Amino acid sequence: MNLLYSSAGLACAALSLLACGGAPAQPVGPAPAAAPLVGDAYFAARANVLGLSPEAARARDAGISESTPPEAAPDAMLAANAAAVWTSLCAQCHGATGRLEGVPPTPPEAPRPRELGTTGMAMGFFFGGDKMRAGLYRKIAYGQPPADKPSPMPPWAGTLSREQIWALVAHIEGL
Ligand code: HEC
Repeated sequence: MNLLYSSAGLACAALSLLACGGAPAQPVGPAPAAAPLVGDAYFAARANVLGLSPEAARARDAGISESTPPEAAPDAMLAANAAAVWTSLCAQCHGATGRLEGVPPTPPEAPRPRELGTTGMAMGFFFGGDKMRAGLYRKIAYGQPPADKPSPMPPWAGTLSREQIWALVAHIEGL
């Protein structure tokens, strides 16, 4: 990002008579991904949205089922958070869109994840419904690699809240 800012600065120096003036330099190209809120910072922000104390927000999250998806779709905060989590914690192995084109296996000898956001996945959601969603939840939360195939897919249950994991399942369904 520094490079982007400094090249914007250079462009301003070269074009000093034009619009760069007193306005802060804007980075060129796509905006950097927002850092995802996780752990205490997530619960503080979530508590704010829900009008609860952070402790009450944690207790509420602990009461969310891990086997049945919440009835309501993720609200705006959860959906934005899931997108940011996906970009910064998942996309290096799964690709920004869930397709693996151009994504090197991480680590190189690792099994490749299934491609997400494909017609096959859409059919899985259509026919598998909440059973399919619960399977993805378990995978994201607990990893559970097949015994004979060590997988680099980390378990996220200690890092992400239950609501965040369900929001990721919804994010994957929307890819
Ligand atoms: C270090 C690489 C890596 C990271 C980071 C990673 N994954 Fe994975 N993931 C994998 C691999 C490899 C598999 C396939 C092997 C397996 O199932 O364990 C996988 C499998 C999955 C599956 C199961 C897909 C299927 O076939 O049904 C889901 C869902 C998933 N990951 C979601 C996520 C989410 C959400 C994140 C971020 C919070 C994430 N992954 C981060 C490597 C990764």
